[in-house]
Amino acid sequence: MKPFFLLLACVLAWASFPARAQEPILIRFSHVVAPDTPKGKAAERFKELAEQATEGRVRVLVHPNSELYQDREELEALQLGAVQMLAPSLSKFSPLGVREFEVFDLPFFFPDKDALHRVTEGPVGRELLRRLQPKGLIGLAFWDNGFKVMSANRPLRLPADFQGLRMRIQPSRVLDAQMRALGASPMILRFGEVYHALRSGVVDGTENPPSNFYTQSMQDVQSHLTVSRHGYLGYAVVVNRKFWEGLPPGIRSALEEAMREATRYANTIAQEENDRALQAVRASGKTEIHMLSDEERRQWRDALAATTAEMEARIGKDLVEEIRREIG
Ligand code: LMR
Repeated sequence: MKPFFLLLACVLAWASFPARAQEPILIRFSHVVAPDTPKGKAAERFKELAEQATEGRVRVLVHPNSELYQDREELEALQLGAVQMLAPSLSKFSPLGVREFEVFDLPFFFPDKDALHRVTEGPVGRELLRRLQPKGLIGLAFWDNGFKVMSANRPLRLPADFQGLRMRIQPSRVLDAQMRALGASPMILRFGEVYHALRSGVVDGTENPPSNFYTQSMQDVQSHLTVSRHGYLGYAVVVNRKFWEGLPPGIRSALEEAMREATRYANTIAQEENDRALQAVRASGKTEIHMLSDEERRQWRDALAATTAEMEARIGKDLVEEIRREIG
């Protein structure tokens, strides 16, 4: 190459390097719920913290409401690297073959959030997240949503009230068994399809924490809701492993710190958001809200006891026992 062209090539390479070096690292964070839910707000908080901590070297684009991908598809997209970060509900890891996560679906298993946090923030929680690595994922944190309510177009006070109802569930064998034990027919549907399925009568009822119920306008299509708190719904924040391990170490540790802070935020606001949502459903006057008496709750527990024992065996007796000890 002539000296002039050599010099020009060097100048161009030099000139383009800073531009490339300054191009932000993009994190697409896809999720399926509304922005004004515990997960939606925590995702936005993570974006703020991450961009601030990395002084703009990382840009986080949050895509809510299944605008990029629905439930199963978003996990596939993450594995392929089409998006970098998700926070699927814990029930959605079962189809990946990580059935240990189904422990979170066991009915009446976690007495309250404190017991749950002892598990998710302790060695069992870390071990569960590690089990995602062979799937090409790194689990960064657990985020709360809350305890679930049941809804339908008839009051659901006793197990017999479920007889013959088609209930939408997430893709978890435990949830399938739970609905069958109550006398209902479970149907797996993506979250983004639930409102229309309820409206058109494809399913009769569903379960979710109030924040998901209210922000999807389910009060328009469900006339009864029972505050049963029969099960928990939370999330694992996951990233594509190759992407995460390929980040410059300084950036990765800044993002880990942002995630710790976003997790504290998520777990602080979740209860409040759900209380507010339940209040809003009540205020809408469209859905009658039922609270279970102790006797009614006992009947739900009894109806579910055999199934729970059977599902514990599927999940792994040792793991379930270890979690029981942590719950105390
Ligand atoms: C559902 O699919 O019912 C929810 O878990 C969605 C979510 O991410 O909260």
